[in-house]
Amino acid sequence: MDDMDTSRNSDLIATHYLVRSLRSRCSLKAVRAPHRVEHHPFLGRAVRQGVIFVLACFSFHALAGSSTGEDKAQLCLLCHKPAADKRFVALLEQQPADYLVAATMAYKTGQRKETSMNVNAANLSEADIRDISGYFASKEFPKRAQNLEPAKIAAGEKVVTDMNCASCHGPTFRGAGMTPRLAGQNVMYLVGQMEAFRDGRRNLPPGMAVLKDRTDIENGASYLASFP
Ligand code: HEC
Ligand code: HEC
Repeated sequence: MDDMDTSRNSDLIATHYLVRSLRSRCSLKAVRAPHRVEHHPFLGRAVRQGVIFVLACFSFHALAGSSTGEDKAQLCLLCHKPAADKRFVALLEQQPADYLVAATMAYKTGQRKETSMNVNAANLSEADIRDISGYFASKEFPKRAQNLEPAKIAAGEKVVTDMNCASCHGPTFRGAGMTPRLAGQNVMYLVGQMEAFRDGRRNLPPGMAVLKDRTDIENGASYLASFP
């Protein structure tokens, strides 16, 4: 099924949004500066992915002195768009604040590896991270339809119940404290993270069981994504 395509296209999606919206948000200098590093061996790649644009804008943003969590979260929303299916990008609304702080810190320190997020988090202060996390934690969870197959949801219910995932993530998978919300999360993000846990690309929390089989992972993700 197309929705379960494993190709990582989040950077392409991200670049699309960034290029479209940054002109109105950033100083000319901030937008121009990255072109000079386009042929740099490391930065060149990042520029093509659009992430340096964000970094440049953060500096500008910080200097401009705007200070609410909502202000600071605007750049995050370029990729973490609530309405659309962003596949490998997570929804952050209604995620427990403590978890969001920890997850963002893990990107900042490089403990959790993902190019866009490592670059985006690098420039945030701890106060920024707390403000942004508080903002997303308090925002209403977006209502949008994901294209989920009923047969996968039903098969996923059995796998997730057998593995007792609710014992940590909560009876309706809304998470709490340091345990993330899974309910209604983008299905492809859930698939990607379960594979990352399975393959050792993301550190497994103590006591968390992993689904090994790709079909179980897709079914489990469909079930979890089906929760409101
Ligand atoms: C260029 C696109 C992009 C931008 C801008 C961006 N993110 Fe992300 N973010 C991603 C992607 C892609 C992932 C999934 C990464 C992975 O697979 O680990 C992610 C994941 C996350 C996660 C993990 C969510 C979870 O459920 O574990 C957090 C937290 C996060 N981002 C916070 C932020 C914050 C805060 C900002 C703004 C300062 C931000 N992001 C800006 C692309 C982006
Ligand atoms: C012992 C408690 C525990 C159990 C049981 C558990 N989890 Fe988790 N899970 C966690 C914690 C804690 C995290 C956050 C890890 C981190 O901070 O990186 C997590 C993270 C996740 C994530 C990443 C979410 C995100 O937003 O990035 C997924 C997906 C997930 N778990 C799925 C499952 C599934 C499916 C099961 C059952 C097979 C399960 N978990 C069982 C504690 C648990």
